[in-house]
Amino acid sequence: MTETMTHTDTVPLRLLIDGEWIDGAGAGLESTSPANPGRVVAAGGTATEADVRSAMAAARAAANSWAATPMAERGSYLARAAAIITANADAWGTELAREEGKTAAEGKGEVLRAAQILSYYSAEGDRQAGEVFSSPRRGEKILVTRKPLGVVGVITPFNFPIAIPAWKIAPALVFGNTVVWKPASTVPLLALRLAQALVEAGLPAGVLNLVIGPGSLGNEIVNHPDLDGLTFTGSTGVGRKLAAAAAAAGVPIQAEMGGKNASVVLDDADVELAVEQVLFGAFRSTGQKCTATSRLILQEEIADAFLARLHERLSEWKTGDPTDPSVHMGPVVSGPAAEQIRAGIAASIAQGAVVTFEGDVAGLGDAFVAPTVLELPAGENNAWSEEFFGPVLAVRRVATTEQAFELANDSEYGLSCALFTQDLSKALAAMEKIDVGILHVNSESAGADPHVPFGGAKKSGYGPKEQGGAAKEFFTHTTTVYLRGA
Ligand code: UN1
Repeated sequence: MTETMTHTDTVPLRLLIDGEWIDGAGAGLESTSPANPGRVVAAGGTATEADVRSAMAAARAAANSWAATPMAERGSYLARAAAIITANADAWGTELAREEGKTAAEGKGEVLRAAQILSYYSAEGDRQAGEVFSSPRRGEKILVTRKPLGVVGVITPFNFPIAIPAWKIAPALVFGNTVVWKPASTVPLLALRLAQALVEAGLPAGVLNLVIGPGSLGNEIVNHPDLDGLTFTGSTGVGRKLAAAAAAAGVPIQAEMGGKNASVVLDDADVELAVEQVLFGAFRSTGQKCTATSRLILQEEIADAFLARLHERLSEWKTGDPTDPSVHMGPVVSGPAAEQIRAGIAASIAQGAVVTFEGDVAGLGDAFVAPTVLELPAGENNAWSEEFFGPVLAVRRVATTEQAFELANDSEYGLSCALFTQDLSKALAAMEKIDVGILHVNSESAGADPHVPFGGAKKSGYGPKEQGGAAKEFFTHTTTVYLRGA
């Protein structure tokens, strides 16, 4: 067993409640590096249920004046925070890599993405905010105006510890809501950084409140009578429980949950491009994206050539310390998460899967999972149906395009799909037939942009989607005003 050690650069964790940085009175939390579990990246006391109640009270108290603040002014805090985040991208990207396990390049990319999201929403005040309709009655206009929901709970996962919070918190704030935010307690440091940037940008007290602590705090948020909306990204199990609790309380919820995303490579595809994109989609961030490619559907004619090239590229990929610039893939988030993924691989093999590629993780710690490609026989297989959230790709071959599309839809989830073809008519057919929230043609299954909707079909999501115009739908409610001259 490794003993944990606090280093001089262990960052003290704090809660943010009503504009004050406070020490959580709950149990001590040590956030360690999955690549090196002896290393404590951040540490502090967790929030108690009473802290959550204080945070909710602060958010409620700040709600009216924040809602009355002009949108352009609300946006200006986001713009200032974006500049602060950009200035810290290298340092915070490295912290992210250390704490979460994705590479430092990906960590920096994610930090910059958070800044981009804040910048995008900072200009929301300049975009259309309401509608005017004609009326069937003389002398009347009908206006549809928007108001904030009020106090919004934000619950975020470990895998994008600053980008996902940014794309929930930025629209929540700019549309005039106040926020109580509970990030994943396994990776809390970047939450602290985002909150610090917003505080340094001058955000008024109580508008954003950060409570770091166990998952059970989510219950305290969702059951709180002051809650007006809840946005969640994470596992399907937790999302459904929160959705049930929110429904019981009559609170709108936006839940972004699981994925089992397919990449479909048709026989006319540019194989070199497809291999590169599948490699990125399946193995970047160690496969820990809800949009990651975890199923690969190959048309027979190109299947052997595709797999040979994929294996070749994978053998060039180095797994190791994510802060080492020569490394392509780091660990998963923790030893227990890795154990669960390895058990999933073993179960798949017991059901007949053949390992066609297994990377080298010898000598690395418990949280490292070898990048693995499994070719599946016909029939049920857990690697086809269950989200592993790790660097594991399950492969099936098909004869026809039709069969490829059918297999792509063979999942209870429907978040994203990547199709590789050079035939426009096949791309058009896929738009009709593949039931997903996000379809990529000739690019990897992961990725999102702040100005367009993000979210899944089928069981991948619940409630309105995120980002772009979809964010406005969730974070505001409309008032239809019948306006007639007296
Ligand atoms: C991406 O594909 O770049 O939890 C973002 C997730 C998603 C975000 C994916 N909500 O992985």
